[in-house]
Amino acid sequence: MTAPGTDPGVLRRRATDALLRARARTRLLTGCVDDRDLTAQHSPLMSPLVWDLAHIGNQEEQWLLRAVGGHEALRPELDPLYDAFQHPRAARPALPLLRPAEARAYVADVRGRVLDVLDAVPFEGRPLVESGFAFGMIAQHEQQHDETMLITHQLRRGAAALGAPEPPPAAPDAGALPSEVLVEGGPFTMGTSAEPWALDNERPAHHRFVPSFFIDTLPVSNGAYLRFVEDGGYGDARWWHPEGWRQVRAHKLVAPLFWRRSGSRWLRRRFGAVEPVPPDEPVLHVSWYEAAAYAAWAGRRLPTEAEWEKAARHDPVSGRSRRYPWGDADPAPEHANLGQRHLRPAPVGAYPEGASPLGVRQLIGDVWEWTASDFLPYPGFRAFPYREYSEVFFGSAHKVLRGGSFAVDPVACRGTFRNWDLPVRRQIFAGFRTARDAEPA
Ligand code: AVJ
Ligand code: FE
Repeated sequence: MTAPGTDPGVLRRRATDALLRARARTRLLTGCVDDRDLTAQHSPLMSPLVWDLAHIGNQEEQWLLRAVGGHEALRPELDPLYDAFQHPRAARPALPLLRPAEARAYVADVRGRVLDVLDAVPFEGRPLVESGFAFGMIAQHEQQHDETMLITHQLRRGAAALGAPEPPPAAPDAGALPSEVLVEGGPFTMGTSAEPWALDNERPAHHRFVPSFFIDTLPVSNGAYLRFVEDGGYGDARWWHPEGWRQVRAHKLVAPLFWRRSGSRWLRRRFGAVEPVPPDEPVLHVSWYEAAAYAAWAGRRLPTEAEWEKAARHDPVSGRSRRYPWGDADPAPEHANLGQRHLRPAPVGAYPEGASPLGVRQLIGDVWEWTASDFLPYPGFRAFPYREYSEVFFGSAHKVLRGGSFAVDPVACRGTFRNWDLPVRRQIFAGFRTARDAEPA
């Protein structure tokens, strides 16, 4: 397996770039609203934006200043306020949080000291700093909260002043693509032991046998999902997991989150703007239950996590697993819609240069993809550097999502990257594609 060079100078440059890029995004996401909107709770599912901001700084302080740099705590009283396990999101607005100006000063103070640590610390000798891991982990952490904050902006009533990004690229040949591809049965290498900044749950690399299956070339579009809606899909218990059906009934669900019917048309709200639902965009803001119900209605199913990763990484010619569908090169703008560059998914069929060896498109970027699988450890898993990143979430309560969305930065997105959430969640930037068993030969 090829991973980026382990030259310390290169890794130090990558770490600096990743930290600076994350901070530029954080400043935009927390600088585009006034103090009232920064401290308000826009949804019980989310923290106030000012909590995310100071939590980003507090995690950075704990890992990069204290654990890596050996510094004393700057403000020990802050740790419990910004510990995600001590206070559920809905309880955070009532805490004595730092005011916006104090939070900004705190994160800036931490970052200034971190850049000095980054210049001085050798990238070897301790597992935490090997290949700059802790710096990569903290850059990924900040970017994950930048996605979380973008979700808060989507849930907020007002328009988000996040600039006017250019539209994503079109999909001129989408109509000419086969609807699904066959992935031949056989073993492949899942997970990684070589990627320097891969998180604990992506490790170690191991062999998996995956029987033959078909997988959609493209994510399911709004237009396709609308046929399920118009066919009465939300009124027919046959398609639904019992718990999903309970959710549909209890909350009177009729369509994805943020959709609204207006006469004969469907509209949706995105970052405060209402527009007709674009039929060729990947469907977004559906729960795992909605994704699974659509798949059942279509006579198909969600791919397992192993199927998804094999479709994304396995090269049938060489037999090895790639870092990304297109190869081992880091994501570039022609490969995938990442990094909040467009603030929306591209139409299904975009990014031909990002296709997998078998021609599957948009596995990386655009929308997170629900898989059929529970979030479980790989054989040989070891929690690192803390149990609360992954280990405490393993089990049947959470379903795995793969591939990253338009809101994910490349530093937090890989062919091996694993995300997870509760199957009822709809506010995340998640869609899906479907699969089916291949007839035994
Ligand atoms: C991996 C996205 C599920 O946001 O709950 C952020 C990432 N972990 N801070 C989350 C995370 C600690 C995590 N997810
Ligand atoms: Fe966090």
